[in-house]
Amino acid sequence: MTLESAPESSLPTNDSLTRTPADDIVTDPVLDLIVDPLAESIKGGEWWRSAVIYQIYPRSFADSNGDGIGDLAGITSRLDSLVDLGVDAIWLSPFFTSPQRDAGYDVADYCDVDPIFGTLDDFDTMEQAAHARGLRVIVDLVPNHTSSDHAWFIAALADGEGSETRARYMFRDGLGENGELPPNNWQSVFGGAAWTRTTNPDGTPGQWYLHLFDSSQPDLDWTNPWIRNEFREILRFWLRRGVDGFRVDVAHGMIKAAGLPDYFAPKDGGSMGGDAVDVPYWGQEGVHEIYRDWHLVLEEFEGDRVLCAEAWVEPLSKLAHWVRPDEMHQAFNFSYLETPWSAPELRAVIDSSIEAFHGVGAPSTWVLSNHDVIRHTSRLALDAPPLQGAGIGPLSTPKPDEALGLARARAASLLMLALPGSAYVYQGEELGLPEATDLPDAARQDPTWFRHNGEKYGRDGCRVPLPWDADLPAYGFNTTGDSWLPQPGDWQDYARSSQVGVPGSTLSLYTAALRERRDRGLGVGTIEWLEGYGPEVVAFSNAGVIVIANTGSVPVELPVGDIVVSSEALTEAALPADTTVWLIAREG
Ligand code: NOJ
Repeated sequence: MTLESAPESSLPTNDSLTRTPADDIVTDPVLDLIVDPLAESIKGGEWWRSAVIYQIYPRSFADSNGDGIGDLAGITSRLDSLVDLGVDAIWLSPFFTSPQRDAGYDVADYCDVDPIFGTLDDFDTMEQAAHARGLRVIVDLVPNHTSSDHAWFIAALADGEGSETRARYMFRDGLGENGELPPNNWQSVFGGAAWTRTTNPDGTPGQWYLHLFDSSQPDLDWTNPWIRNEFREILRFWLRRGVDGFRVDVAHGMIKAAGLPDYFAPKDGGSMGGDAVDVPYWGQEGVHEIYRDWHLVLEEFEGDRVLCAEAWVEPLSKLAHWVRPDEMHQAFNFSYLETPWSAPELRAVIDSSIEAFHGVGAPSTWVLSNHDVIRHTSRLALDAPPLQGAGIGPLSTPKPDEALGLARARAASLLMLALPGSAYVYQGEELGLPEATDLPDAARQDPTWFRHNGEKYGRDGCRVPLPWDADLPAYGFNTTGDSWLPQPGDWQDYARSSQVGVPGSTLSLYTAALRERRDRGLGVGTIEWLEGYGPEVVAFSNAGVIVIANTGSVPVELPVGDIVVSSEALTEAALPADTTVWLIAREG
């Protein structure tokens, strides 16, 4: 990385913020060229089978109004940087009306935009601007729970026991002589009991309601046909607005086992599931009927739309059930995300991913980071990273080694982007951003932190606003310098302005990898394992490209060839530790 600063515009002028998509189409001479990929991929169909999808966390991407929280107009203003990067689609974490108790995953109105992010018009402008640039747009659907501020929940509380509105949620009487004990022993993913007791209008204690997450996120009852119908309409609302698909939150949690039996978790009771078996609230068979239904709703609309499951389900052969031909199209491959930087384990997970997903006719997905996990730049530097959701903070030991983490992250990303299927890139990873590990307690916002009384740091460290410009306030996230989570003082080198066009920068690496991936058809290719490189090496060919990743400590001799892209500059015909290369073999 270098400190040298390449010219880069800062936040948009008012002019570019108010520019309409129609203006773009008419006035931008370059745009005709840029529009083509979208048209082409529409013709080709099933774009999502090989797409690189960039996750935007709207609170932290770009802030147009200077209030310290990112917004939709900020996203619009920065779309060109994503075109330059070379991604195919964007997925936006929730921007809907919400009290923001869980950063927007607590939705109070599924069909409107929260004022902190803008308006529906801002959404339309952003979406049209994205489409005009050949970028698909995926929005986040949060169907397992609403916010406790949602009109449905407010009515359910007011209408009382036995009402139709209560039947939309999971209200139950408590146990014990006076109903003073929760209905069962389930734990919230964020810590503490998964039940909260209500108070009746006359002040007496009432029923309990279930919340697998925060108490401000009551679970809906998906056995209720009324809820199913409402969500069909919510899907149609966004499909009519032209979205290309939905990332579905907690897609393994919407149906609970009949009778809500107690569950004795083997380890971390509050986990998202993973390999835990027979959990009465994760991975129940009944969820699949919902996705078959949604598949049909998507088919009501022209074009090629996608449902992507956030389902923490293992093994992969079980996760594949979410992407059977009449259900969803993709599921996040968290087994891959959770694989350490170890060649034998990487080879095994790549094999089982391809086998499991291809077995049902779906593409595999690949992902290394998102807004819920420690950024892979930091995670891969730790031998035993904290469990999902726990985070890293000032008192954590050991702290990740930044240089080691960055080298491994670059190598891991280059390996991931060589794999056939669809890859997800979380905002900031193209800059090599590390986890912010020194956030002060007072700045923390994740409910995990509060519900564990500060014993788990939570996920704030991967959500810090992006650095766009090394020399501007808030690194160009906005013009006021405000930032809802404090940005570390030493992120100048990570800023986009320090990396754009700079050979060897992480941004240049991602840009080159995405271009080559597209040009050479790696996303639609097939891998063949290459033998003879030793146990610490992942080596395969895909679409004529030889991909070699060295997870060990000893340099690996390279075949004679022309380097396409490499995660570190190579000075000799050997691949150093923690490095990945793509090359084309040369005879002799
Ligand atoms: C998964 C989301 O990714 C996470 O951020 C959120 O807190 C939970 N689901 C609850 O909606």
